[in-house]
Amino acid sequence: MFIILMGPQGSGKGTQAERLLPQFHLESIATGELFRNAVAAGTPLGLRAKELMDRGELVPDDVTIALVEDRLEDQDARRAAGEDVRGALFDGFPRTQAQAEALDHLLARRGGKVDRVILIDVDRDVLVERVAGRRICPNCEAVYHVTHRPPRIEGICDVCGAELEQRPDDVKALERRLDAYYAYTAPIAAFYEQRGILARIDGSKPIDEVTASIQAALGGIRERDASGQPA
Ligand code: AP5
Repeated sequence: MFIILMGPQGSGKGTQAERLLPQFHLESIATGELFRNAVAAGTPLGLRAKELMDRGELVPDDVTIALVEDRLEDQDARRAAGEDVRGALFDGFPRTQAQAEALDHLLARRGGKVDRVILIDVDRDVLVERVAGRRICPNCEAVYHVTHRPPRIEGICDVCGAELEQRPDDVKALERRLDAYYAYTAPIAAFYEQRGILARIDGSKPIDEVTASIQAALGGIRERDASGQPA
């Protein structure tokens, strides 16, 4: 089963992905997180991505698509070795029409398809408040919010005890990231709407309510076999 979580910066994609992954036995393919890992590892890809991310710009399609293909090939290899791999939840991918078309090709080659696209809708002014209050753990990547989801001890990760930080792109590039979302990513919702697989979710509600709405939207496609095809 292959699901896409779409939505502007701060709409709650990462927050909701964390809750949905275990329930649907899916693996996360979150391109922003993959780029941040590459930045932390200091790879050539990381160096190139950092510059663009810090400016709030998208990483080029060819680089991003190759990164996703690499993750799908990794799943293929593990499945071939007998591991129970049931598909993926794409978080922050695709973000352009070219990426959406490339994903169709990558999945079709594996006999799969995009089963459902969840678009988490939130007004721009709310997004700004959410991103300003977001704190992340640099060690285990847990996500908090200073008022909506505070850690038990201020500034300290509940999970691993590391000191929480603000993401560099949250401090300086939010408006540009939002502009890129509305210019390149929001229009691809129509691509999925035409196929009848898009569900729009009101992401301005509290976190638990948003989770419940997404679960309801995914309810009909819960049971799938290991190849990602309907059982
Ligand atoms: P990426 O990491 O994907 O960032 P993003 O899309 O900007 O999304 P965010 O992580 O900012 O927000 P989110 O929706 O996950 O919100 P969260 O759950 O944290 O991408 C970073 C960069 O990488 C891009 O700018 C680009 O340069 C590059 N990139 C990535 N993918 C790419 C691609 N495909 N192509 C090209 N370039 C790419 O929630 C936000 C805050 O709100 C948190 O503090 C949370 O606790 C709180 N919150 C969440 N839900 C609620 C709620 N319902 N009520 C109250 N608070 C809430």
